[in-house]
Amino acid sequence: MEVVIVPDATAGGELIADAIAALLRRKPDALLGVATGSTPLPVYEALATQVRSGAVDASRARICQLDEYVGLPADHPESYRSVVLRQVVEPLGLTEGAFMGPDGTAEDVQAACEAYDRALAEAGGVDLQLLGIGTDGHIGFNEPCSSLASRTRIKTLTEQTRVDNARFFEGDIDQVPHHVITQGIGTILEARHLVLLATGAGKADAVAQTVEGPVSALVPASALQLHPHATVVVDEAAASKLK
Ligand code: F6R
Repeated sequence: MEVVIVPDATAGGELIADAIAALLRRKPDALLGVATGSTPLPVYEALATQVRSGAVDASRARICQLDEYVGLPADHPESYRSVVLRQVVEPLGLTEGAFMGPDGTAEDVQAACEAYDRALAEAGGVDLQLLGIGTDGHIGFNEPCSSLASRTRIKTLTEQTRVDNARFFEGDIDQVPHHVITQGIGTILEARHLVLLATGAGKADAVAQTVEGPVSALVPASALQLHPHATVVVDEAAASKLK
C-alpha cells in the first residue's frame, strides 16, 4: 500500500485526477468506479477541469457506482444514481449509457445485487476504484464487521453513518434510508487499482487504523492492505495520527 500525504483536499483531488487522466490516456474506455459523499468532490472538479481544457479526453470513459440507497426513487436528488449523474457523468460530458449502478428500487434486491456483480465482471472489471472512508473505517457501505470476502449485497447503515449522511437530507435523519446496496469488500478488491482519499481530522483515526492497524473486519478499509495496487491519499489533517 502506497500512502501519499498532500497539503489539502484540493491537492489530493488534483493528484487523483492526474492518475485518472493518465489511465484514460492508456485506456480511453477505462471503467472508473466512483464514490459519493463530500470527499471525492475535488477529484471530480479537477477531472472536469482537465476535460474542459482538452488536457484529457474522457469521452469513452465508463463510470460505475459503488453503492446505492435502497428504496429511494432513482430520480430522487440524493439517490446515488442522481448524485453520480450530477457530479461525474454530466461534468465529464458523458451520457447515461456510459454509466452503471445497482438498482436500489428492485423488488428482488438480492437478485439486483447479483446482477450488478455480474455486470461489473462482464464490463471487464473496474480499472480504478475511487473510495472515501467513513469515520468508522467503512468503505462503500461495508460497515465494521463486514466480511472481507463479501460480494455486492444489501446492508443496514449504522446510526453513525445515518447521522453523518443526514446533511444531504436537510439535516433530517428520518429521511436517510436505513438500507443500501453496496459493492462488497471482495468485489471492491477486484478492481485493478484502489485509490482511497481521506481528508480532515475527523478521518485521522480511521486512516491510522487502515494503514497501520491489523487487517480486520472491524476496520473494513484495512482490507486495502491485501490489495497489490492500493494508493491512500490523505491530507495533513487526516494523516495526523499516522506514526
Ligand atoms: C459513498 C461511500 C462512503 C463514503 C464515506 C465517506 O459512496 O462509499 O463510503 O465514501 O461515507 O463519506 P464522506 O466523503 O462524505 O465523508
